[in-house]
Order: sequence, then C-alpha cells, then structure tokens
Amino acid sequence: MLYLLDTANLEAIKKAYNFYPMDGVTTNPTIISKEKRDFLEILKNIREIIGVESMLHVQAVSTNAEKMVEEALYLNKVIGGNLYIKIPVTKEGIKAMKILQSKGIKITATAIFTAQQALMAAMAGAEFVAPYVNRIDNISGNGVGVVDEIVQLFELYGLDAKVLAASFKNVQQVHCVSLTGAQSVTVNPEIMDKILEHPLTDWSVDQFITDWESVYGVEKTTLDVK
Ligand code: E4P
Repeated sequence: MLYLLDTANLEAIKKAYNFYPMDGVTTNPTIISKEKRDFLEILKNIREIIGVESMLHVQAVSTNAEKMVEEALYLNKVIGGNLYIKIPVTKEGIKAMKILQSKGIKITATAIFTAQQALMAAMAGAEFVAPYVNRIDNISGNGVGVVDEIVQLFELYGLDAKVLAASFKNVQQVHCVSLTGAQSVTVNPEIMDKILEHPLTDWSVDQFITDWESVYGVEKTTLDVK
C-alpha cells in the first residue's frame, strides 16, 4: 500500500513525512486555493520537503486538451522530480492523456466516479487512476465497490495502471479500499493520524511502562539497566 497525503499544507506534510511511511502528496485546485498564496511557491515548498523521489500529483486546470498538455509540460519543467499531472476524465482530458503519454509525462486520471472511466483512462496512458470514494458514497453509490471493480478490470486486462483511491472521510473507507488490493490511497492529514490511533494501544503502552518502572526505576530504559 502506498500512502499519499491529500493536502498542500506544509506543516501537515512535514509532520506526516516525519512519522509515517509516506510515498507522496496529492493536490487539487481546491486544496491549493485553501493555502491562499503563490501557486508555484507552494509546490516548490512541497517538493523541498518531500524530496525529488517522492510523488507529487498536481492538477491541470484547463478544460481543453491542448491547454492541458501545455500546462502539463510547463508544470513538469518548473516543479520537476517525480511529478504526476492530474487530468480529469473528461473527453478533452482523455485526449490530453493520449498526447501526454506520447511525450513521456506521467499522468494521474482524476475525478473518477465509474470503473469504465478508469478503464478508458488507463487505456489512454494514465499511470494512476483516482476514484473518489466518499463523493461516490454521497450520491448513494458504492465507492469501495467502484474501486474493487477497477482493481478487477486492471487485473483482467493485464494493465499496469494503479489505483490511487481518493476522497475519504473515514478510516473504515480506507480499510475497505485496502482489502480490494488497491495499490495506493491519498488521505487528508486527520485521517492519516486516525488510521493509527487506538485507545487500547495507548493504554497497553502505559501499562508496560508502569510495570517496567515499578522494578527498574522511573524513566529508565533498557539502555540504563545493562
Ligand atoms: C484527490 O486528490 C482528490 O482530489 C481528493 O481526494 C478529493 O477529495 P474530497 O472529495 O474530500 O474533496
């Protein structure tokens, strides 16, 4: 499972990269807008924090294929590193993916609500496809079910494209998606923390320390009692 953080907040990215096994950062125009500062500066700052090898997914905002391609080439040049250009699965988007694939630009197909959209994006050259789990659930669909179908289709057709499941509102959605064999998830910083949290884990650790300290002394570690 690859873990990506769905935010452009630098403090949250620093924290997650400090503690967790992170593989990348995803942004979209809404996420970037929340930071209310220069777009390129935000992305360059993120690249500085995560390094050149970690994945950074950035979305093109044009709605026609030629402009999307232009944006992708520009972003690839100015941001650099392991960059994926997010392209929505519109008709123009699919056209842009075909062109970008031929130019060697890495693509993440985004705004995916059906397995057929994901299949076509993979055929057009997307390396990642991003189904929006919670947004599908919110229209009385089955977000995890769509992810499961995509995983099955990619296996069935022997495609190398990977699923980057997105749009999560709770840990149970992440858990169910991971059971489908989806290769990656992008989650917001709150959910990243919640994946790990369990009160009985904290209780158990406290109990171990209390028992240890009752015999070996307060704040003594295994290094102090050799
Ligand atoms: C992925 O990068 C998507 O843009 C993102 O996960 C959408 O999440 P939301 O439905 O919480 O806005």
